[in-house]
Amino acid sequence: MNEVTSIDRTQREYSAAVKQALARAPQLYINGEWVDSSGEATIDVEDPSSGKVVASIVEATDKDIDRAVAAARAAFDSGVWREMPPVAREKIMHRLADLIEAHADELAELEAIDVGKPKGMAAAVDVPGAANHIRYMAGWAGKINGETIAPYSLPGGMMFAYTLKEPVGVCAQIVPWNFPLLMACLKIGPALAAGCATILKPAEQTSLTALRLADLVHEAGVPPGVFNLVTGYGHTGGDRLVKHPDVDKVAFTGSTEIGKLINRNATETLKHVTLELGGKSPVVVMPDVNPAEAGPGVAGAIFFNSGQVCVAGSRLYAHKSVFDEVVEGMAATKDFWAPRPSLDPEAHMGPLVSKEQHERVLGYIEAGKRDGASVLMGGDAPASDGGYYVNPTILTDVNPQMSVVREEIFGPVVVAQRFEDLDEVVRDANNTQYGLAAGVWTKDASAIHKIASKLQAGTVWANCHAMIDVAIPFGGYKESGIGREQGREGVEAYMQTKSVIMKL
Ligand code: NAI
Ligand code: MG
Repeated sequence: MNEVTSIDRTQREYSAAVKQALARAPQLYINGEWVDSSGEATIDVEDPSSGKVVASIVEATDKDIDRAVAAARAAFDSGVWREMPPVAREKIMHRLADLIEAHADELAELEAIDVGKPKGMAAAVDVPGAANHIRYMAGWAGKINGETIAPYSLPGGMMFAYTLKEPVGVCAQIVPWNFPLLMACLKIGPALAAGCATILKPAEQTSLTALRLADLVHEAGVPPGVFNLVTGYGHTGGDRLVKHPDVDKVAFTGSTEIGKLINRNATETLKHVTLELGGKSPVVVMPDVNPAEAGPGVAGAIFFNSGQVCVAGSRLYAHKSVFDEVVEGMAATKDFWAPRPSLDPEAHMGPLVSKEQHERVLGYIEAGKRDGASVLMGGDAPASDGGYYVNPTILTDVNPQMSVVREEIFGPVVVAQRFEDLDEVVRDANNTQYGLAAGVWTKDASAIHKIASKLQAGTVWANCHAMIDVAIPFGGYKESGIGREQGREGVEAYMQTKSVIMKL
């Protein structure tokens, strides 16, 4: 295959609005105002398309975290938000969604230079998705109710019992760097709808859109203390939030390793915990597909967002009768996915988020080669002046013992394998610690249902991938998580049930 040699990987000039956002003083949003940290430490913000430092954010101190938790606690306990008529909460949330939409272009560009994702992708996926999370959850604010219940062991007419759905309290919400604004809104949407107070901690690599989100939350009219934003590292600020006795719930999206640690740490005070963790999602291509359609589809399943997606279709299982054609179809998308700077209007894939991830992903590719995998496409980093680019990569001749097959790489790397029969592929697909998502490509509707019922995954897609909608529950089987986000279950995860029992 010919290399795309002519790509200029120089990052484009930023817009005036983004320059202004980058120039803001590093501060935290606590109790309805922008405040300085109690300390001096800051964290550099890099544009991964160039590797250059473009801004700095606060590295929150323990004191800052405690201040944010105290503000959330006081706001929750005051009832200012949870006792507000649901229609008023809902209106404020719709105003927030409107504001996100009104600032869509700036937010997409900020996300592009912070994460490295193409601005066009951020504009098509991240920003509208963020607004949708707030808007959809706004609608639940007045629609979650308890029930009246007839006792089972007592005569009728003697007792009256009902349940109340109450907000769980103060939430610590910790999000990763792959979809920063989207994840922030996915987290705060149900918390706000349920009447909780929250402290959001974005990833240290990507806090820029969360900072702008705090401006918009303020403008929308969310009362002081109900939403607080702290920036900083996970092992310091994040850890303090998770262990804080005044935090009632922790909602986390990120690596399985840190998810397990958070679950242990939250146990000390028996916090409610929801975890959305890693994956190594299988994609099964059945013999009846049109390889010309399936090839680009399964390429998108792995290369979208540079493979930095929890549900990335990173293990391809194609039936032996179509394997070669499907893999050729994937490889034919090489130029489409060729990595470019995030503000290049032709970009479909950008760099990886950081130097650390760049080294990690290239390290996995090297390990795969050492273990005997063949590189059918990519397998290296393209030329650039400092950006964290990795070429879209297809590895074949792999086996289930290899780290590239077992572990979450979180980069544009797919391992492609052949299968012969359905039982075999279901067994192989399920042979993983993870269970976040899976895909199947076939025109045979009965095969879809059979496979869907056998795959150990929280979401199964057929003839598509990574189609995520806020109305549809999302979460992991096995070590991919605990609980569900989105849909009715998503908002109920921010509520607890109180039973009231009366003798008449
Ligand atoms: P991470 O899981 O360490 O970070 C995610 C978030 O957790 C960040 O906000 C971080 O500050 C916070 N955090 C880290 N340690 C914490 C602690 N002890 N207590 C509380 N909060 C903490 O992910 P990282 O290190 O950025 O990426 C490493 C790998 O994790 C990736 O290569 C990828 O495999 C996986 N990952 C998976 C994601 C997913 O959506 N499934 C998202 C991000 C990373
Ligand atoms: Mg980490």
